Formats: sequence, structure tokens, C-alpha cells
Amino acid sequence: MTAEIEIIPFMPEHLDGALRLSEQVNWPHRKEDWALMLDISEGVVAINDGQVVGTALTTLFGSDVATSNMIIVEQEMQGRGLGRQLMDEILSTAMGRESRLVATDIGLPLYTKLGFEVTGRVTQHQGNMGIVSTMDDRCEWDDAPDFDALCALDRAACGMDRHRLIQALIDAGKVAVIRERGTIIGFAILRDFGGRQVVGPVICDDIETAKSLLTFVFASRTEGFYACRYPRRVRPLSLADRHGIGACWKTCAHDVESTPDEPRRVCQNFCVG
Ligand SMILES: CC(C)(COP(=O)(O)OP(=O)(O)OC[C@H]1O[C@@H](n2cnc3c(N)ncnc32)[C@H](O)[C@@H]1OP(=O)(O)O)[C@@H](O)C(=O)NCCC(=O)NCCS
Repeated sequence: MTAEIEIIPFMPEHLDGALRLSEQVNWPHRKEDWALMLDISEGVVAINDGQVVGTALTTLFGSDVATSNMIIVEQEMQGRGLGRQLMDEILSTAMGRESRLVATDIGLPLYTKLGFEVTGRVTQHQGNMGIVSTMDDRCEWDDAPDFDALCALDRAACGMDRHRLIQALIDAGKVAVIRERGTIIGFAILRDFGGRQVVGPVICDDIETAKSLLTFVFASRTEGFYACRYPRRVRPLSLADRHGIGACWKTCAHDVESTPDEPRRVCQNFCVG
């Protein structure tokens, strides 16, 4: 690798350079989407001649789990070991935790070399919303949702403490909840992301509730350009197609973990977000 490349901590002043890289690989992130991720993560940038030529973030979820995000290397510098070096840096930050990430097809070879195993597939749907009619009247927007209740459901679904992420998503978007006898049994978060509206996570314990939440959220803006990413094993089959966002934009990503998949939990995350 080029000797003059420096790997240093990712600071807010690197956001413009990071944005240039994500635009180079056609990712939809805006600067504020990067800022949200950086706010809840730590990471490194590779600097060459004063320019950001590589990025890697890790989000630590409690003491058990870490996810790796935003792994990008400048096109001209790919294939020289920089991606591996950035990954090594953030994996050492995450030391002792189970590591998870959602990989692109391009990233998969690097991650499998680092010991990650494919545990599932995530399918992304996006498109303009059609007309949404049937509604479950148990769903409502909640301007001040019970944060502890949301975090407890999320933790039951994902097996990690994501309270910082959940707080950041609530701050950036709005929360739809579904209640039974006054208790929140599921929720979905809708937010702006990369010039579209993204739904996720969608946390609840069965597919019908997930469909109710998604339908409610879709119905709130019939003109919006929406995206949602379903883990394949829990994809609310046909729902997105029925609402006009069936066209699969980017075929898929790989959900990979450094340890084997855990047993299915009762509460699940139906939409990655
Ligand atoms: C994925 C990415 C970060 C890899 O960065 P890179 O600097 O090219 O990767 P490296 O040169 O460090 O390669 C690391 C290892 O993966 C292997 N590898 C990388 N790309 C590969 C490919 N397409 N096919 C086979 N092996 C590959 C290399 O051979 C190397 O193995 P080695 O260490 O045993 O020699 C880079 O291609 C990239 O930025 N892609 C676009 C953005 C993206 O999709 N990021 C992944 C998001 S999940």
C-alpha cells in the first residue's frame, strides 16, 4: 500500500470527504445521514494527500455486539489492502464483541476473508407509493413514545442494546406504534434518508402486525419515494409489491455475522431500516 496513507480517527471534519466517497460508489447517503451514523459510532478514515480515501465505522451496542458500517475505499486505491486495514482497525475497537454487518456483493469477499459468515439475505425495495387503503386502527403516530418500551422491544428482537440508535432515529424521524390494552406491542420508524423516506426498524412479534405498521406508515404519504429492506426470512411477502414498491432496486445485501445465527426470537425486526 502507498506509504503516505494515514489512518486516523474519523472526526466531523471528515464528513465532506466521506460524502465524496459514498457518492463515488453511488450510495444515497446525504451528509446528515453520515453525521447520524458518526454520532452513534466511532471509526477511522484513511487520508492520502489531505483527502479522505477510505472510511470505516463501528457502532458498539452495549458490551455484546458491534456492527461495521460505511466501509468504503477510494476506487483508485482498491485492491491494495486498505479495506482490510480499515476493517482491522474497527474490529479491534469492537474487540470482544460479536461483530455483525450487512454486506454488499462487493464487500462480501473482504468480510469472508476476515472470518464473517453469511447468515441471511436482506432485500431492498423502493419506489413511489401507490394508493394504500386497508388500515389497522390500532396503529397511530406517537410524538412522545415510551422510549424504554421501544428499546425493550428492539432489544428482544435484535439481541443488542441499540438505545443510542433508536434515540437518533426518533430524533431524525417519526414513530408509529401499535398498542394492545394500552401497551406498545410494536413500532416502526419513518425517516428521511438519502432523498427518500426509509421505513425501519419495524419491531413486533408477528408478520400481520408488521404489515399493519407498514401499511399505516405507507398510507401517511402516498406520494413519497419509499425504501425498506427486509431480512429475507421475515419479508412481509407481497406487501411492498401490493403498495407499488415491488421493484427491487438493488438486489440484495448479505447479512453477515462473526458468530452463527441465534435462535429465532419471538420479537423480530421485520425491516432493517
Ligand atoms: C469492499 C472494499 C471496501 C474493499 O476494499 P479494498 O481496499 O479493495 O480491499 P483490500 O484490498 O483490503 O482486500 C482485502 C481482501 O479482500 C480480498 N478482496 C477484495 N475484493 C475482492 C474481490 N472483489 N474478489 C475477491 N477478493 C477480494 C482481497 O484479495 C484481500 O484479500 P487478502 O488480504 O487475503 O489479500 C472496496 O471494494 C469498496 O470500497 N467497495 C465499494 C463500497 C462497498 O461496497 N463497500 C462494502 C460495503 S459492505
